[in-house]
Amino acid sequence: MMRLGILLSGRGSNFAAIAENIAQGRLKGCEIAVVISNKVDAAGLAIARERGLKAVAIEARGRKRAEHDAEMISTLREHEVDLVILAGYMRLLSPEFVQAFPLRILNIHPSLLPAFPGLDAQEQALIYGVQVAGCTVHFVDEELDHGVIVLQKSVPVLEADDAQTLSARILEQEHIAYSEGIARVVSGEYQIIGRRYVRHISS
Ligand code: GAR
Repeated sequence: MMRLGILLSGRGSNFAAIAENIAQGRLKGCEIAVVISNKVDAAGLAIARERGLKAVAIEARGRKRAEHDAEMISTLREHEVDLVILAGYMRLLSPEFVQAFPLRILNIHPSLLPAFPGLDAQEQALIYGVQVAGCTVHFVDEELDHGVIVLQKSVPVLEADDAQTLSARILEQEHIAYSEGIARVVSGEYQIIGRRYVRHISS
């Protein structure tokens, strides 16, 4: 069983979708060991508690990144986490954090990377005028929204879209994509060649 550590900052809908897929037996080979938020009042923490999962707040405000990250790392280690899942965790990870879990941190980003990294990706896509948008599940490295891509899903951008309608269409795909991406990594049946994630063909 791979033990997942979920990191979030807010709503927690991606986390909720993952938890539901695990509970329903649709996402196998892993369990949620702990849910950690850098915000005490994150809705995602309440969802975790309702599900009977271990929920921890490690407030980041007013603390140095290195110090906050050190506490995050020790909490993840305490719970014997194998794979860290960023689910709307809106804080940069320090290099020390990334190095503590090499190729063991996943993130989901609401754009087809490398387009529109950073904040408000859906708004950036609309302003740019792309006609296809989507989401990306990727490994986290030391650069923002940059690591090896595990899986992407696309959606159309419609003429009538605003940031809210486009975000909702992308979010629906995020909820599917993240569990699929986690399943791929949990299976261990892949190689990373350069920047490419390559699935093993099972015989
Ligand atoms: C999701 O759309 C996720 O892709 C995005 O924040 C939202 C969190 O929603 N993450 C980023 O923009 C990271 N750069 P959720 O809390 O309901 O899962």
